Amino acid sequence: MEGVVPEFEVRNATEADLPAIVEIYNQSVPGGWSTADTKPVTVADRIGWFRNFDPAKRPIWVAEIDGQIVAWTSLSSFYAGRPAYDATAEISLYIGTAYHRRGIGRDLKRWVIEQCPRLGITTLLSMYFDHNDATARINESLGFEQCGHLRDIAVVQGQKRGLIIAALRIPAPEPA
Ligand SMILES: CC(C)(COP(=O)(O)OP(=O)(O)OC[C@H]1O[C@@H](n2cnc3c(N)ncnc32)[C@H](O)[C@@H]1OP(=O)(O)O)[C@@H](O)C(=O)NCCC(=O)NCCS
Repeated sequence: MEGVVPEFEVRNATEADLPAIVEIYNQSVPGGWSTADTKPVTVADRIGWFRNFDPAKRPIWVAEIDGQIVAWTSLSSFYAGRPAYDATAEISLYIGTAYHRRGIGRDLKRWVIEQCPRLGITTLLSMYFDHNDATARINESLGFEQCGHLRDIAVVQGQKRGLIIAALRIPAPEPA
């Protein structure tokens, strides 16, 4: 499969997808690369989190290949959802480890960016550990601008890590 970019289909996630979403999330925990969680989470832990998503404004999507969920991505409100930041959202993106390095991460992030105008989002934020090289590469290629680097702000697997804040400005749709 190396070098081949598989076609995937994206749809809004349903609660029935939560076990697959949690499974993919937990695959990333041992890598210490992405999430600030240091232990696996459970479906029960995540039900409240899942129910806060809203397909009209702050969706969570799953990507499928041949009907199997291989990745998920979501948009969350910034700064606890204060209304002044309605047009700003933070992206999360998790690819199942068996599907890493096949171009899915970049393609899925590009797809999310394309959805932002209809969701009223004009600033997309990406926040990631400063050793997450894949996210840095994807963001650079998609036009994100690094606007902050909070050094040594986290301890992951016993090591101090920093957080990069990157932003992509997305033009609002022209009024009809
Ligand atoms: C980060 C992540 C989304 C990347 O997805 P992916 O589908 O493997 O990435 P892609 O195949 O699109 O690769 C994008 C680039 O990153 C590089 N890359 C991918 N994995 C890498 C790794 N482990 N180390 C270094 N570079 C890597 C690729 O070579 C490619 O480089 P290019 O710019 O030269 O083409 C995926 O590794 C993942 O889900 N990680 C766990 C969760 C996470 O970190 N999410 C982001 C923060 S929310």
